[in-house]
Amino acid sequence: MRLLITGGAGYIGSVVAFRLLRAGHQVTVLDDLSTGHPDAVAQGAVLVRGRIQDAADAVLSDGPAYDGVLHFAARSLVAESVSHPERYWRDNVGGTLALLDAMRSAAVPRLVFSSTAATYGQPTEVPIPETAPPRPTNPYGASKLAVDMMISSESAAHGLGATSLRYFNVAGAVGRYGERHTVETHLMPIALQVAAGQREALPVYGDDWPTPDGTCIRDYIHVADLAEAHLLALAAVQPGEHHVYNLGNGAGFSVLEVVEAVRRVTGHPVPTAVAPRRAGDPAALVAGSARIRDGSPTPGGSNRCAGGSEVRPLSAPSRRRAKPVTRGQPQWSSGDRPSVLDGLRASAHPSSTVFARALIRTSMVFAPTLIRLDDGGGALLWAAAPVLRGSR
Ligand SMILES: NC(=O)c1ccc[n+]([C@@H]2O[C@H](COP(=O)([O-])OP(=O)(O)OC[C@H]3O[C@@H](n4cnc5c(N)ncnc54)[C@H](O)[C@@H]3O)[C@@H](O)[C@H]2O)c1
Repeated sequence: MRLLITGGAGYIGSVVAFRLLRAGHQVTVLDDLSTGHPDAVAQGAVLVRGRIQDAADAVLSDGPAYDGVLHFAARSLVAESVSHPERYWRDNVGGTLALLDAMRSAAVPRLVFSSTAATYGQPTEVPIPETAPPRPTNPYGASKLAVDMMISSESAAHGLGATSLRYFNVAGAVGRYGERHTVETHLMPIALQVAAGQREALPVYGDDWPTPDGTCIRDYIHVADLAEAHLLALAAVQPGEHHVYNLGNGAGFSVLEVVEAVRRVTGHPVPTAVAPRRAGDPAALVAGSARIRDGSPTPGGSNRCAGGSEVRPLSAPSRRRAKPVTRGQPQWSSGDRPSVLDGLRASAHPSSTVFARALIRTSMVFAPTLIRLDDGGGALLWAAAPVLRGSR
């Protein structure tokens, strides 16, 4: 397929571009390099430097027809969205509107959109199913929810085939493609920077949350698994349908569990400093993964998302299982109605292999030299420990 990737010079877009090229697709990247890097654009992709608002129309109408768009380009800093909400409405919402206009003009039939768990806000149940009421607590989440709704109406009115993937916390790297944000807000890279001596201490925003160790619980999904889900989503879209799926591991890990794993893997101390809670932070965010796994009903809900779209497995129509997102705990039967506490209890039983894999692949960003480890369960893992040791 001929594909446009907006934001393909950024963290996740670069990994997905790399995977799509390897699968034989033809890739153009549209990126203004506001947070991305030209050297992160996968080899074999064409880079067009520009803002989606200004350039999407020209790019999509140039040359042979495009078969689809994967839309990653966005602003995604929660704090910035609170202090400068206009940037989020203008770039995330206005940018996507321009993209949809350009896609309609050029008759591009498929869209895969990077949505987020931030659309849910404070969850009333954990794990969070797609049927949970979306109540974003900051303009970033609200802008992404607005785009989800915009895409639903575009599909219904104009026949676009689309999938919104609501990522939880993305972690890890694939080869040289990893997280390289100038303003880094994500836990794993920050913890690794502390381990590498690049930061003094890791701030822990509150240690009195209603969780087993008092620190916030989040759901980490490996970027390689996330990329695989994009390929499946692209193959599965149907004209006139918009589907929304959570993309998480289904298991939660606390801040202190992450820190402890970083210490273990790197062999370095990771000093922490307790800081006040941040406004709007939920105690736990864990993805309900039933819908993307097999299209089965989400806990306590119908098989329809908040936007009203009907649900089917992501693997359709090929019937391939969406393997990357099936690991972890917990899985609920359709009759269960887990409370927040049930969810927390369930998420206190992490799948250490999945977690270690996510963590250790994150380390690869720091590691030109890699060693192979055996996790005892037979899986081959990669770690950066010697490099980190040498960097202090
Ligand atoms: N990283 C996560 O954990 C996470 C979680 C949930 C959702 N998301 C979403 O996934 C997407 C990708 O996230 P990421 O971590 O790779 O971010 P990133 O900042 O690394 O990548 C975004 C890319 O888009 C480009 N860009 C931004 N605005 C643009 C515009 N108006 N026109 C053209 N290019 C523009 C940037 O230069 C950058 O290369 C975002 O939409 C984000 O909201 C990320």
